[in-house]
Amino acid sequence: MTQDELKQAVAKAAADYVAAEVPANSILGVGTGSTANFFIDELAKIKSRIAATVASSEASRKRLLDHGIKVVDLNDVERMPVYVDGADEITPQLAMLKGGGGALTREKIVAAVADTFICVCDQSKLVERMGKFPLPVEVIPMARAQVARELAKLGGQPKLREGFTTDNGNVILDVHGLSIADPAAFETKLNQIVGIVTNGLFACRPADLLLLATPEGVRAMRG
Ligand code: A5P
Repeated sequence: MTQDELKQAVAKAAADYVAAEVPANSILGVGTGSTANFFIDELAKIKSRIAATVASSEASRKRLLDHGIKVVDLNDVERMPVYVDGADEITPQLAMLKGGGGALTREKIVAAVADTFICVCDQSKLVERMGKFPLPVEVIPMARAQVARELAKLGGQPKLREGFTTDNGNVILDVHGLSIADPAAFETKLNQIVGIVTNGLFACRPADLLLLATPEGVRAMRG
């Protein structure tokens, strides 16, 4: 199976989960990235079952609207049963490293409102220790150099994502060379650095359910 076929399979499994487990007329949180895009395409087939969605990026918002799926503002939503999104890396404990697509801040905000975070990944994303994939950090532009110095003190090699501006008007530093032994502790430490808007570790609030695509089928794992 190709990686796209695996992503397609796990997206279908997530839509099946929504159809079977989520009460009709719910509002769903929708992530960003290529796997989330496959999920949006699958969601379109069951759109009559859901009331609306909240999108974690302008790109996902546009794709949802193109499918005729209603998108509402997060400020108008008090709770969502489920948020579905991909990850760049995920551990067996379901801590995630995200933000390869640069949407980490809105992803973390939308996920915070959801009761259940369902992570949809192909098997290449499952790792024992995160950090091989450069850790994205969204930074206020005027703080870029100062934050880079602070990240270097923590042992990383930050590199500006050239030519990229987030949906929130900020820049991304991709931090190379990390080997993250305690993801929740490192997430908390990065949260203390002034100028960082959001870091791409989703460990203090990990996923609740991982749907992992393998050539043998989609595995469901709980943390
Ligand atoms: C977007 O900012 C990311 O957090 C994505 O969820 C992550 O990069 C996974 O993307 P793919 O599904 O394209 O691998």
